[in-house]
Amino acid sequence: MTTPVISVQGLRCRYGEFEAVRGIDFDVQPGELFALLGTNGAGKTTTLETIEGHREPSGGAVRVFGKDPRQDRSIRRRIGIMLQEGGFAGDLTVRETAELGGALTARPSDVDESLAAVGLAGRREVRVRQLSGGERRRLDLALALLGEPDLLFLDEPTTGMDPESRRATWDLVRGLLARGTTVLLTTHYLEEAERLAHRLAIMHEGRIAVSGRLVDVLAAHRARISFDTQRDAVLPPLAGTAEVTGTHVEIRTSDLQRDLHALLSWADGRLELSGLRAHHASLEDVFQGVREEVLVK
Ligand SMILES: Nc1ncnc2c1ncn2[C@@H]1O[C@H](COP(=O)(O)OP(=O)(O)OP(=O)(O)O)[C@@H](O)[C@H]1O
Ligand SMILES: [Mg+2]
Repeated sequence: MTTPVISVQGLRCRYGEFEAVRGIDFDVQPGELFALLGTNGAGKTTTLETIEGHREPSGGAVRVFGKDPRQDRSIRRRIGIMLQEGGFAGDLTVRETAELGGALTARPSDVDESLAAVGLAGRREVRVRQLSGGERRRLDLALALLGEPDLLFLDEPTTGMDPESRRATWDLVRGLLARGTTVLLTTHYLEEAERLAHRLAIMHEGRIAVSGRLVDVLAAHRARISFDTQRDAVLPPLAGTAEVTGTHVEIRTSDLQRDLHALLSWADGRLELSGLRAHHASLEDVFQGVREEVLVK
């Protein structure tokens, strides 16, 4: 087995009396994108900062490239970090900020290339304080890319970006993955995780509630079919369960193909299934499952 790029075992982090991370385990393999998801305050940023070596764990162990990030500074050179909240000096221009970042990274890097990669080439001489929120995020990303890191930490990278920039960022990240970069991502955009993640963990109140390969996590949840039809329509026998609210029908099923076929044959030539939607479970559904489980407890 190859050494994981990141290994987290029994990690605990406290802020004074408050335990923000309460014993979590996961690893990130070379070249994979691992997404850490979860509600506000779940402990994602705390976890990232600890793996980055910025925070001492109060329990458990963290290894990055097989080393303790608090002890071994040499791994810094292989790491790119995009913090949840980057702080810039507003008076510097975009180019000056990137050059400063470039001077701090130990490997030679191309500042212009990095700015171009995030679509800021044309904004080089603009002062940072004049950038929009989404542009700042892109500058943050450009800085994280300097030095061509083997491991990239992205803490909510696309928050505040417009849909086009977000898409461009996804393409950029895919390109990095194709080159073998390993990525640890947090995001509240579930679509982002669905598009990029190989594996993921959903945190809740300092613990991991769900984890695994994206495909397996989604496959463990039932698919959905929904539509509107006439009142009092008697549905055909289904593998899944149906919930009828007035004219709205919502079906959860483990056999999407079979139930969809049954419904279409049943409706064929008799009635219209307006607004028909059918889809496999999404991360949204998985999230809802986590919330429901928490409420039951
Ligand atoms: N410096 C700090 N001092 C005290 N408590 C903190 C500190 N930083 C974070 N916390 C608390 O620790 C918990 C986890 O915070 P963290 O920032 O890791 O969450 P998160 O999952 O990144 O949330 P978000 O999605 O909002 O970014 C929260 O309850 C937060 O209030
Ligand atoms: Mg956070």
